[in-house]
Amino acid sequence: MSAKIIDGKAIAASIRQKMVDEVAQLKKEGIVPGLAVVIVGKDPASKVYVGQKEKGCAQVGIYSEKYDLPEDTSEEELLNLMARLNKDDKINGILVQLPLPKQIDEKKVLYAIDSAKDVDGFHPENIGKLVIGEDTFLPCTPHGIMVLLEHSGIDLKGKEAVVVGRSNIVGKPISLMLLSKSATVTICHSKTKDLSFHTRRADVVIAAVGRPEMIKGDMLKEGAVVIDVGVNRLENGKLAGDVEFESASKKAFAITPVPGGVGPMTITMLLKNTIKAARMQA
Ligand code: GUN
Repeated sequence: MSAKIIDGKAIAASIRQKMVDEVAQLKKEGIVPGLAVVIVGKDPASKVYVGQKEKGCAQVGIYSEKYDLPEDTSEEELLNLMARLNKDDKINGILVQLPLPKQIDEKKVLYAIDSAKDVDGFHPENIGKLVIGEDTFLPCTPHGIMVLLEHSGIDLKGKEAVVVGRSNIVGKPISLMLLSKSATVTICHSKTKDLSFHTRRADVVIAAVGRPEMIKGDMLKEGAVVIDVGVNRLENGKLAGDVEFESASKKAFAITPVPGGVGPMTITMLLKNTIKAARMQA
C-alpha cells in the first residue's frame, strides 16, 4: 500500500487565498495588519526563512518591515528595537528569527516582545495560555501540523500519538495541542530507551528531532499517520526529513513530504497570527 500524501503546499495555498480576501476586507475597515521580521547575522537557512516570511506577507497583503542586523549587534541594541516595535502602531506582530548570535540572550529578547504582538507564540505568557487551553497565539509549526491533520480528516480522539523531539518550538507545544484534541500523547527524545517500541504503537507519529531519515518504515505501525517536521540539508545538497520517506510511505496511511509538507504551513500560520494580532489590537 502506498500512503496518501498530505500536500502542505496545496493546503497552505488554499488558506492563503482566503487570507487575501480577509486582509482586503480588513483594509476596508481601516485595519492594515503589519509584521516586523528581525534577523541578526548571516545564517543561510535563517535568511531563506525570513525571505519566505516577507514574501508570504506580500502575497496576502500584510504590511511588513525587515530589520536585517549585523552579526555583532549587541543585546541592548536588540532590546531597544523590541521596545520601539512594541510601541509602533503600524506593527501588530514581531518575529525575531532564531537562532541569535551567542552574545545575545535569546530568552531576554523573546520575553521583551509585547505578548500581544508575539506572533511566534514563544512568550511565556502565551505558552502558559496554551498549557491551560486559553485562546492565544499558537506557535506556528505545531499549529500548522494541527491544521494539516484537520484538513486531512484525521480524528485524534483516543488515538495514540507519539511525538519524537521535545523542543520548545515544536515537540512540547505539539504535544499539548494533540492532548487538547484528546489524543493519548507520548513524548520521546534522545534519551528514550526503545524508540521503536513507542513508534510502532502509534496511530500518529510526529517526527521533530532534526536527524535525517531517522524514522524508518519498520518502526511504524501499518496505517499510521506520519508528520515529518525535519528539514535536514544532506552533504549532497538535498533536503531530507526526519523520516525515511521511501520505506515509511509503504507502511503509512498518510504522510507529509519534505519539502512541501509542514514547511509551507508554518509561514501560513504566522500570517494567520499576524491577522489575529491586528484584529485584537484594532
Ligand atoms: N527558527 C526556526 N524556527 C523558527 C520559528 O518558528 N520562529 C522563529 N522566530 N525562529 C525560528
